Amino acid sequence: MRSYRAKVVEPITLPDRDRREAALAAAGYNVFNLDSGDVYVDLLTDSGTGAMSHEQWAALQRGDESYAGSRSFARLEEAVREVMGFEHVVPAHQGRGAENLLYGALLEEGDVVPNNTHFDTTRAHVANQGADPVDCPLQVALDPAGDPDRPFKGNMDLDRLEAVVDEVGAGAVPVIVLTITNNSMAGQPVSVENTRAVAEFAAEIDATLVVDACRFAENAAFVADREAALDDASVAEIVREQLSYADAVIMSGKKDALVNVGGFVACRDEALFEAVKQRAILYEGFPTYGGMAGRDLEAMAVGLREAVAERYVEGRLASVAELGERLADAGVPVYRPFGGHAVYVDAERFLPHVEPEAFPGQALVCAAYLEGAVRCVELGSFAFPGADRPELVRLALPRRTYGREHLEHVAETFAAVHGRREELGGLDVVDEPPNPELRHFSAELEPREPLVSAAD
Ligand SMILES: Cc1ncc(COP(=O)(O)O)c(C=O)c1O
Repeated sequence: MRSYRAKVVEPITLPDRDRREAALAAAGYNVFNLDSGDVYVDLLTDSGTGAMSHEQWAALQRGDESYAGSRSFARLEEAVREVMGFEHVVPAHQGRGAENLLYGALLEEGDVVPNNTHFDTTRAHVANQGADPVDCPLQVALDPAGDPDRPFKGNMDLDRLEAVVDEVGAGAVPVIVLTITNNSMAGQPVSVENTRAVAEFAAEIDATLVVDACRFAENAAFVADREAALDDASVAEIVREQLSYADAVIMSGKKDALVNVGGFVACRDEALFEAVKQRAILYEGFPTYGGMAGRDLEAMAVGLREAVAERYVEGRLASVAELGERLADAGVPVYRPFGGHAVYVDAERFLPHVEPEAFPGQALVCAAYLEGAVRCVELGSFAFPGADRPELVRLALPRRTYGREHLEHVAETFAAVHGRREELGGLDVVDEPPNPELRHFSAELEPREPLVSAAD
């Protein structure tokens, strides 16, 4: 059940078909290049796209913009201590800023960093320190059709983790990362049991356990629902329990701190705190604001508390699941179970006749835009050239933003595309930036044949 109502509204329009065709062509068949005004339901990302509460808007007014010792920073510290259980906090402008601070303080050239799955910016920041990021996901999670009832497909594969350490030696592994939920593995959750086991292993090899906690509240709500040992615990209690195993966290406030921008590092160790603060001065700002305005620190403090409110976070998971079920009912092949922040469509099963070199996921993304001005993102052979990954399309739901009618529109859009899927062809890249890892943000494509749309 929805636990909020609208007080401020933002008009959106569904551009007509001619407009959609012209906009997509002008965008080089890459939806990152579209103007947001040409999009009706925007499911490109859940990052920084949510709606703040009236308490957060009120908190903005309390923002203390002092360069040093801001009261707003003190309020953020208090919220992080209460909600997440960490003594020390260093703000950053967003998650990747926090990653730069923390991994720069912890890693050296030649280190190896296992993670259940590195998110793109995490991988880049680990590599930027000269270290080697290694993914240790569960094998089953890589198969969009694999074990649809498995409760914690985001877990670290402990055998893989041990194998990595055996191979390179414990001395080369100063840091282990656990990403909750596992964004790059379809937003699947990580159990508290797995977190505890990873923490015990990290302690054995004397490694620092970092939790990438961007979606800590969504993860805890899954645990409340699925992990028998924590059946009676509240979401807030599960968050405290799960994060108690971490030595440090990195946080993108744009997710479960319910703000449009911001982030932080939190840790327990005094020496690490000092090292992170020194890097903050260099890269983000003085450690009591770290690249954020005082008012945004205030809103993030309020958002952290709101994120662990049961009625909010349960409703959040329910609306993602509702979108997933609507798509499945329309015959769309979806990754199961549904993630915490997004539904993932299996483009390989949707468009089996489009080979990976012609980017079936991107063909589907373009068709969804043409059909209903729905924007989503390809996470397959276009976004990850050369990687052995499933052809997925992610429909990420901004927090507290869209209601049932929007979800219906998305499902109807995909149902219409599905009904005409055999007419859909692939695309070729016609212009790409020098760094292939970043190509899906700006590359331009051409469809091999006309894309399906509703009105013809
Ligand atoms: C798991 C994970 N870690 C780190 C980040 C980086 O956060 P930001 O986008 O705030 O830089 C993201 C962003 O999507 C993420 O999903």
